[in-house]
Amino acid sequence: MRRPPIFPSLLFFLSTLFSYSIGGDILTPTQPLTDGQTLISAGRIFELGFFSPANSNNRYVGIWYHKVSVQTVVWVANRQHPISERKGNLSITANGTLIITDQNSTTIWSSGSSGLANPVAQLLDTGNLIIRQTSDDTHDPNSFAWQSFDHPTDTLLPSMKLGWNLTSHLNRNLTAWTSSSDPAPGYYSMAMDIQGDPEIFLWNGAHRVWRAGPWVGQRFSGVPEMKTYSMFKFDFVNDQDEIYYSFNIFNESIISRLIVNQSGVTQRMVWLEQSQMWSIFWFAPKDQCDNVSPCGPFGVCDPNNSPICDCLQGFEPKSPTNWALRDGSEGCKRKTARDCRNGTDGFVTVSDAKLPDTSGSTVDMSLNLDQCRAKCLTNCSCTAFASAKTSGDGCIIWTTELTDLRVFGFGGQDLYVRVAAADLGSASDHSHRNDIIAVVVGSVLGILLLGFICCCFWKKKKRTRRQAQSTLGSVSFASNYIDESTEGRELELPLFDLGTIAAATNNFSIQNKLGEGGFGPVYKGKLGDEQEIAVKRLAKTSVQGLDEFKNEVMLIAKLQHRNLVRLLGCCVQGEERMLIYEYMPNRSLDAFLFDKAKAALLDWRTRYHIIVGIARGILYLHQDSRFRIIHRDLKASNILLDKEMNPKISDFGMARIFGGDETEANTRRVVGTYGYMSPEYAMDGIFSVKSDVFSFGVLVLEIISGKKNRGIYLSHRHVNLLGHAWSSWKEGNGLDLVDDSIVHSFPVSEALRCIKVGLLCVQEHPEDRPTMSSVVLMLGSENTPLPDPKQPGFVSTKGPLEIDSSSSKQDSLTVNGLSVTIFEGR
Ligand SMILES: *[C@@H]1O[C@H](CO)[C@@H](O)[C@H](O)[C@H]1NC(C)=O
Ligand SMILES: *[C@@H]1O[C@H](CO)[C@@H](O)[C@H](O)[C@H]1NC(C)=O
Ligand SMILES: *[C@@H]1O[C@H](CO)[C@@H](O)[C@H](O)[C@H]1NC(C)=O
Ligand SMILES: *[C@@H]1O[C@H](CO)[C@@H](O)[C@H](O)[C@H]1NC(C)=O
Ligand SMILES: *[C@@H]1O[C@H](CO)[C@@H](O)[C@H](O)[C@H]1NC(C)=O
Ligand SMILES: *[C@@H]1O[C@H](CO)[C@@H](O)[C@H](O)[C@H]1NC(C)=O
Ligand SMILES: *[C@@H]1O[C@H](CO)[C@@H](O)[C@H](O)[C@H]1NC(C)=O
Ligand SMILES: *[C@@H]1O[C@H](CO)[C@@H](O)[C@H](O)[C@H]1NC(C)=O
Ligand SMILES: *[C@@H]1O[C@H](CO)[C@@H](O)[C@H](O)[C@H]1NC(C)=O
Repeated sequence: MRRPPIFPSLLFFLSTLFSYSIGGDILTPTQPLTDGQTLISAGRIFELGFFSPANSNNRYVGIWYHKVSVQTVVWVANRQHPISERKGNLSITANGTLIITDQNSTTIWSSGSSGLANPVAQLLDTGNLIIRQTSDDTHDPNSFAWQSFDHPTDTLLPSMKLGWNLTSHLNRNLTAWTSSSDPAPGYYSMAMDIQGDPEIFLWNGAHRVWRAGPWVGQRFSGVPEMKTYSMFKFDFVNDQDEIYYSFNIFNESIISRLIVNQSGVTQRMVWLEQSQMWSIFWFAPKDQCDNVSPCGPFGVCDPNNSPICDCLQGFEPKSPTNWALRDGSEGCKRKTARDCRNGTDGFVTVSDAKLPDTSGSTVDMSLNLDQCRAKCLTNCSCTAFASAKTSGDGCIIWTTELTDLRVFGFGGQDLYVRVAAADLGSASDHSHRNDIIAVVVGSVLGILLLGFICCCFWKKKKRTRRQAQSTLGSVSFASNYIDESTEGRELELPLFDLGTIAAATNNFSIQNKLGEGGFGPVYKGKLGDEQEIAVKRLAKTSVQGLDEFKNEVMLIAKLQHRNLVRLLGCCVQGEERMLIYEYMPNRSLDAFLFDKAKAALLDWRTRYHIIVGIARGILYLHQDSRFRIIHRDLKASNILLDKEMNPKISDFGMARIFGGDETEANTRRVVGTYGYMSPEYAMDGIFSVKSDVFSFGVLVLEIISGKKNRGIYLSHRHVNLLGHAWSSWKEGNGLDLVDDSIVHSFPVSEALRCIKVGLLCVQEHPEDRPTMSSVVLMLGSENTPLPDPKQPGFVSTKGPLEIDSSSSKQDSLTVNGLSVTIFEGR
């Protein structure tokens, strides 16, 4: 931890050795700044010049700390327009425009004209680059025509404003770099939303990721810990000219900055002079409740509860089914309608709350809390009120649904929610809800299946009535089996007519057959003249298949991710059970990987892209989807490739849904594919997210080596791919593993990193293996330190799996993409 970062500081030292200051902090129209020269602010705090980000040769003009030994860029001028050679110039034109010109003297970036007659550019000790008039030698630091602080990149420095100038409509926000080697604007940004009571949001594109909440005096409502940060002075200005947030540091020798990092986390960093490194002082989002509105309207999120979502007192889940499956996003509805005219409504207090989204709220600073309550009662649309400031001053009133409400362990505020008299004080009813939810969770899977069967039955009957005309209907998994009072929330999945599918697949002709999937043949088809589809037909003889079919329909219909194959619909008619997917022109990964001729088409970039895509798909299953899903049969033949070679995970026949707290389960029926199964699963039937991680590790090593985990040992001393990878790694020859078919050069450090991640995932003990979220992080950033892998499970094919001579026969079946049952029971 305390190890000083020798390497970056050495680089920084080298880079400063070759650059020299042109003498001071000022740039004049007569003297451009060439690549290699720098400006240094008067107090020698900030430095401006050309730089290259890590692992890139592109040149950018930027500002970094002069004193900090790890080059830390806080502002970039030409974020999107790098110069490829060290021959750029930064100059200020006679009419006061800062421009960057490349080797051909083409202007690639400009600050826009300031219209000044005798301009200079100056780098201030705050890190601000300004354009001002030459003449005023006793210049007022506040008079300038242009400043870099008005155009932030990913960093907020002390005294810099995040927010709006309402006169000029200037919106200063932070946008993350694309990657550590590319400062171009990435997906994530942090910006002030000025609707209602202003709030700062973290965004992923146009999607809100985290809400800091309104300013409630000394802090944001969503960041209660802020008031304990005594070394900072936080400012929030909200008047008719400006709405902004900024911070200052009381002790000038402390260096701190606020950034939005490339993985969409906003963090406050503090420079530790003694250990010469940046430390993370604060960051957000922190927990599940920090995501924007996980519990929907009138839901309240408490990270210390399980499940995290609950309804406010006087409210009940809108959709008990989804609620029981731990998807609270639809939120809650009132048990009893409010009584507007008679004035009998009351208020329920939510303590330690983060105030709900204030974009639809109104603030009146002239009212106190009692007046606020009275005002809320007189307006029929008022849903809640609170003090506008933690001091108890002011009144904030909501007239919309209450969304993104959470509670904190400490330091939140009181929120008063308006409910009908009948729902006041019914606390006992409230505490029952958890028990009810637990019961519902227990039985919901069974009920869903039952629902499915009933539905199919019902649909079949209905179809006989309207037979001829229908081509596209919809299967419903009606939740009214659970609670009749809810309006039937349906899981909509298009239903295809058998005739349509038969026509699309040329009557299931052998020419259209793509292969055998988990539970029957797969056909290629074409709907109309446009859409190509893949049709998975359940073999009529397959009993086990019917369960898998239902499992797959149920699961995948609710999942959507760019690295999961998309289910377009299903067909249930007579004896026929079919699933209709988008068609993947490049078929499956194994067809490329293990075929010498085709493997050459997979260059390093593509392989890396596939590895990262699979990792993201699994992460979605494990963590980010509405459920926690263990796939249980990850293997090369279940990874499909689209036109652009994007990987898509398929075949959810074996997948299992886990409840929110459940982390592992035990099964007597071990299903999966030899070579991809983790030791604890194959031997003890214990599966968890970590058994998927193991399979993923095997996949990574297969993708890098182009060899099957099973198969290589024949020529190699009874050692499988894992054993081979492990021994090469230990001997320091990790790169031996890389497929000879990769003819073009590849980034060695990235390859070694991938191999290491693969080895970490196949470690023998599940608790040593990383989670998929760390895997995604480890793959994505060169800076995350990786632990050293321990010995993988099953390095030798003479391992405990060789228990039964029939297993080698079954194994040969997996080559055709079939999943086999290795042994039943124990
Ligand atoms: C400023 O000067 C540049 C060249 O020096 C010229 O291209 C530009 O038109 C001028 N802008 C104004 C507003 O005069
Ligand atoms: C950059 O500025 C230097 C110094 O004035 C000059 O010699 C050089 O030609 C300029 N380069 C370009 C490409 O304009
Ligand atoms: C600079 O000019 C040369 C030839 O005039 C051209 O080949 C090159 O692409 C140009 N470079 C840039 C970055 O415009
Ligand atoms: C806001 O923008 C206007 C117009 O550009 C400018 O005159 C004013 O000084 C700005 N206000 C502040 C506080 O910077
Ligand atoms: C950030 O500011 C830019 C420029 O003012 C604006 O185009 C963009 O929409 C802002 N982003 C957000 C999330 O508000
Ligand atoms: C400011 O911080 C420095 C080092 O962190 C410390 O030595 C110094 O005493 C502090 N100054 C004040 C006024 O607190
Ligand atoms: C972003 O910040 C989070 C939390 O501080 C950290 O875990 C992650 O590694 C950071 N990502 C990058 C790319 O630095
Ligand atoms: C208001 O009170 C009257 C009489 O007590 C009752 O009939 C009516 O239903 C009440 N209105 C509402 C909206 O509860
Ligand atoms: C109730 O509040 C809404 C939103 O602030 C406002 O538009 C409406 O005029 C108010 N109604 C009354 C009767 O005050």
